[in-house]
Amino acid sequence: MYRTHTCGELRISNAGETVTLAGWVQRARKLGGMTFIDLRDRYGVTQLVVEADADPVLVETASSLGREFVLQVTGTVVERESKNAKMPTGDVEIRLEQIVVLNKSVTPPFTIEENSDGGEDIRAKYRYLDLRRPPLQRALALRHRLAQEVRTYLDSQGFMEIETPYLIKSTPEGARDFVVPSRMNPGQFYALPQSPQTFKQLLMVAGYDRYFQIVRCFRDEDLRADRQPEFTQIDCEMSFVEQEDVLNMFEGMMRQMFKNAVGVDIPNPLPRMSWYDAMDYYGSDKPDIRFGMKIHEITSLAQGHGFGVFDSVPYVGAICADGLGSYTRKQVDELTEWVKRPQVGAKGLVYIRVNEDGSLKSSVDKFFSPEDLAAIAGALEAKKGDLILVLCGEKRKTQTQLGVLRIELGNRLGYRDPKVFAPLWIVDFPLLEWSEEDGRFYAMHHPFTAPKPEHEAWFYSDKKEDLERVCANAYDFVLNGTELGGGSIRIHNADMQARMFEVLGIGKEEAEYKFGFIINAFKFGAPPHGGLAFGFDRVCALFGGQETIRDYIAFPKNNQGRDVMIDSPSLIDEAQMQELCIVSTVPAET
Ligand code: AMO
Repeated sequence: MYRTHTCGELRISNAGETVTLAGWVQRARKLGGMTFIDLRDRYGVTQLVVEADADPVLVETASSLGREFVLQVTGTVVERESKNAKMPTGDVEIRLEQIVVLNKSVTPPFTIEENSDGGEDIRAKYRYLDLRRPPLQRALALRHRLAQEVRTYLDSQGFMEIETPYLIKSTPEGARDFVVPSRMNPGQFYALPQSPQTFKQLLMVAGYDRYFQIVRCFRDEDLRADRQPEFTQIDCEMSFVEQEDVLNMFEGMMRQMFKNAVGVDIPNPLPRMSWYDAMDYYGSDKPDIRFGMKIHEITSLAQGHGFGVFDSVPYVGAICADGLGSYTRKQVDELTEWVKRPQVGAKGLVYIRVNEDGSLKSSVDKFFSPEDLAAIAGALEAKKGDLILVLCGEKRKTQTQLGVLRIELGNRLGYRDPKVFAPLWIVDFPLLEWSEEDGRFYAMHHPFTAPKPEHEAWFYSDKKEDLERVCANAYDFVLNGTELGGGSIRIHNADMQARMFEVLGIGKEEAEYKFGFIINAFKFGAPPHGGLAFGFDRVCALFGGQETIRDYIAFPKNNQGRDVMIDSPSLIDEAQMQELCIVSTVPAET
């Protein structure tokens, strides 16, 4: 037996026992004639001690140890003289009788402790060393726990876990596909799934009425803190259900995950907000409802006072930041520059400050009387010491900019505590989204989402304004300003699916070529069905109190989509290129 205990296990009650541990040397230091060694495994750290008067061979071995050497040690558990209350094993140490060096290590490029001195790049290159650190071990342990919770819950509800293929044809989730050349079919390519969407619908046609899978998805899109090119979904689908059934089922799953993995009770039932309200009041389809600071439309109060900027636009909106009336002119100017950055895209920022004496000061005093300003302050329920910030322009664009500003101010005011969880459902999404740029409709969710039955007449209308009004039984699960999951009730009728492709400007031939298999399957008795998928990496990160998903993935990619540890993507050799009938247009490096 390599070990009798782990490095996180021994307590004062073990004093007097002879034990054997195995692990890595975190630190070895000499103090007088004694050597102290911190031995680490994924369960914790235990202090070992070699006495000055121990066997000389043992003393010699102890003094030759370097960081990350792998040891097997045997000794007696003794009570420590100076206890360390911060360590679970801090009451004891092991007086060693034997050290077996199982393996040596070269000096690691950074410290492998709770907080490392290594920068992000070097830690990514040596990911397997970074993974030895407690924060990453906690992250992966949480991920494991959550995956178990998902499986236990869904199994208890009669769901079957069924795998679907990775080498497929494009799935329409809106990102670019990663493609894989087929040697056996020269010049042809598989696409890696952006999600198993079409397969799970085919499983419903096949009669597997409750399906789930914890599954890898691949999307070639620009990366951010909460996006990876390959990520994991908890992908689910159900037959013979309405929206209410799906929401209840997965609210139940989330409730169990919150309770069992992080000990948090979420509201029952969860709040729901329509997409329209989310946009109007939070400027986002993934509102962070941990704090208020809602958006107010003040178009009618702001127009007709001779201020051309407000008078020439369809929408004026404002938010009221409590306590920010103390912002100096310089700070307001900085905020104005902030909203003008391309990432936000506002043209300018108007402010109204409510002074401590109740008087109002604004950047548009020239156009607005104190009464006019008071009317706006009243509409926003502004108090003394508050700062009202106003943006204007096209309605949705301005609301989105106010939404971004709201989040920034929420951060500055400390309203976004990662330990507070405020989940909700966003419902009643529009089915379609018009793109001015492309002059066509796009599916807001994906082309398999069904229109609400009461909006079907509009769906079959040729008028753009009718199509814009169609809502879908689509829903997103949102937590703390992040979209954790989304889904919908699907189309299950071949004619309606064909109409959807027509609305999206996908010609009959193209639809047949890309999605013929699913249109055809729907002709064989497709049951009514619906489902959703959660972004599992995001679930893990938010449960762990982080916004970045990278630490919750064992081997993630960097922002350029590279795995710097294995140095991928990389060139392949000429023979392989030829075999795959691929010619690179990138000039060879000299
Ligand atoms: P959707 O495209 O909304 O829906 O994806 C579901 C969830 O997956 C997560 N997600 C990501 N996580 C990390 N990196 C990414 N690049 C990434 N992209 C998406 C998000 C998102 O909410 N087939 C549909 C689901 C359905 O209709 O059943 C789908 O894939 O948390």
